[in-house]
Amino acid sequence: MHHIHEITEAQQYIESFITNKPRVGIILGSGLGPFADTLQNAVRIPYDNIPHFAKSAAVGHANELVIGTIGEQQVLAMKGRFHYYEGFTLDQVTFPVRVMKALGVEKLIITNACGAVNTEFNPGDLMLITDHINLTATNPLMGPNNDALGVRFLDVSEVYNKNLRAIVKDVAATHGVTLREGVYAWWIGPTYETPAEVRMIRMFGADAVGMSTVPEALIAHHSGIETVGISCLTNMACGILDQPLSHDEVIETAERVKATFLKLVTDVITR
Ligand code: 6GU
Repeated sequence: MHHIHEITEAQQYIESFITNKPRVGIILGSGLGPFADTLQNAVRIPYDNIPHFAKSAAVGHANELVIGTIGEQQVLAMKGRFHYYEGFTLDQVTFPVRVMKALGVEKLIITNACGAVNTEFNPGDLMLITDHINLTATNPLMGPNNDALGVRFLDVSEVYNKNLRAIVKDVAATHGVTLREGVYAWWIGPTYETPAEVRMIRMFGADAVGMSTVPEALIAHHSGIETVGISCLTNMACGILDQPLSHDEVIETAERVKATFLKLVTDVITR
């Protein structure tokens, strides 16, 4: 459970560096980190310095909040995120989303790199998340509910906001960007799925599979933040092609699609 006094301490620390309230949040997945460098008049705050943020183990990763503007919009970007498979608790993984809410964030864009399960999709495609399947048998809202932060039994019929999805589709169409739509399955990791697991996930009705996004989306929804999710399908999931998966391929594809992805999220924020 998240505690108000911890959220407030993190909020006040961050507010000591900024003059305007961020209204849009964005969580940057693999390869999208450079988006943060496009913010104007940016303030950078390492996660390690923020009260009650988890201490990020991964070195070499930029783990920082970058707060700045795109046009008229005040934006808070998370460059680097906490994953459950790293051993963080789901409270730690999602704490930054509670802090975003406290800071005034009303809309959140969550991005990620993931595997394509739908065989009609291709590596390098972007996918708008329409819904998700939680395959992990855990939930960031497990445990006592803090009623001051949201309801006990959360309706999840529209975690990914329809109006925001319409904006993303519209912007993609304007730029001639191919945008798939589909269901994202949250896999606990850190191993990828076996070919049999990928067949199962496809039968369950998912189009993509990855190791993030769902916990943050659930807490954003619980907090009353309107959320939209966009995935970069970096590779076909295991067993679709006759080749092993490699993290290098994930990174390479994310790198290749970066410019398109950047343009899409930038224009979505402007809109
Ligand atoms: Cl194939 N699976 C999962 N769980 N995460 C991924 C992925 C696959 N490709 C990139 N990230």
